[in-house]
Amino acid sequence: MKKIFFAAMLSVSIVSACSKRGVTTDPTYVPPFIQPLAAGVTLQGSLPFPFGAAVNVNLLKNNTAYRALVIKEYNSLTPENAMKPATLHPQENTYNWDDADYLVDFARQNNKRVHGHTLVWYKSLPSWIKNYQGNTAAWENLLKTHIQTIVTHFKGKVASWDVVNEAFEDDGTLRNSIWVQKLGPDYIARCFQYAHEADPDAQLFYNDFGHEYGATKRTVILNLINNMKSRGIPINGIGMQMHTRYNMTESNWTAAITTAAQTGLKVHISELDVALNPDNNQNLTLTTALAETQAQKYLFIVKAYNAIPKAQQFGITTWNVSDADTWITGNYNRPDWPLPFDSNYNRKPAYQGILDGVK
Ligand code: G3I
Repeated sequence: MKKIFFAAMLSVSIVSACSKRGVTTDPTYVPPFIQPLAAGVTLQGSLPFPFGAAVNVNLLKNNTAYRALVIKEYNSLTPENAMKPATLHPQENTYNWDDADYLVDFARQNNKRVHGHTLVWYKSLPSWIKNYQGNTAAWENLLKTHIQTIVTHFKGKVASWDVVNEAFEDDGTLRNSIWVQKLGPDYIARCFQYAHEADPDAQLFYNDFGHEYGATKRTVILNLINNMKSRGIPINGIGMQMHTRYNMTESNWTAAITTAAQTGLKVHISELDVALNPDNNQNLTLTTALAETQAQKYLFIVKAYNAIPKAQQFGITTWNVSDADTWITGNYNRPDWPLPFDSNYNRKPAYQGILDGVK
């Protein structure tokens, strides 16, 4: 990768951006600026499959740099939080469409696909669902009404859905979610049927993390998917989140991607980020070497994805846009830089890694 170093200007900007978040950044770090890129080079324009980002609606509304970057770089958008049950369905008979509608309108105005996330999850449950009292039939009706009201509202506007998210534990057992407790393990298949009834044209995905951890978890996921396919349950795709880390053994990524593709379904790398500080080192700083290593990891993942059959390439989505917006720093309370844009919305080496992955 060829680079030009705009040391003074960019190091000042990255230090100030990071210090806003209370993150200590190496003052000697020089962000490698990606050059030369022909005018007009963008991710969405350079990749042979959709390239998306999870977006935060608040930032989309209020941060002009973020909004401009989303318009420029991506052609597929996933709401990071705006379509989760706790956001969309805060009371039994109340739906809060505001942020999700804003995102969908923004996407339509800017010619972008919307991937809905997520209809059913064990997390992000509003308290009325957590505390719901009812027999099995009432719970089934709750689930069906929840799914069908949301899918119907966005019919024709949201192309695809994560129907069920994270149903399995890392050891391969079915997660003992409220849905399993109330409705039994086959609730998953019924979620897909309910979503399909509401919008037969929507592409329906099962989404989970940890395909790259090893065979145990991905095997149960793939068994579930193959079982649903064999029963004629309407499932179109498999979402592998890929919240991963720079020091993951690379063959684990290849195994995850190729085994998912063996289902014959569409494959979505649905929440990609490559953490650089998986050991939670509070004093870690972003060095050029670390940023370059990350670029190679993005390259590897994109290349492995680009090798699956074209018809199965639903796309790759990163989980948010820049290092200032990532869930990782807040969730793990550590400095980290997992995304292809730095905190000032400048391209990192990872950006070039993504482009190089399809060369
Ligand atoms: O908006 C409220 C704010 O009003 C309140 O003051 C604050 C106090 O905690 O919470 C805010 O909500 C937070 C929300 O993010 C918006 O920032 C929630 O607490 C917090 O739990 C929520 O975290 C999200 C998490 O999912 C749980 O829904 C992350 O942003 C989001 O990145 C993360 O995304 C998940 C995917 O959906 C599924 N796969 C894993 C991925 C990462 O965890």
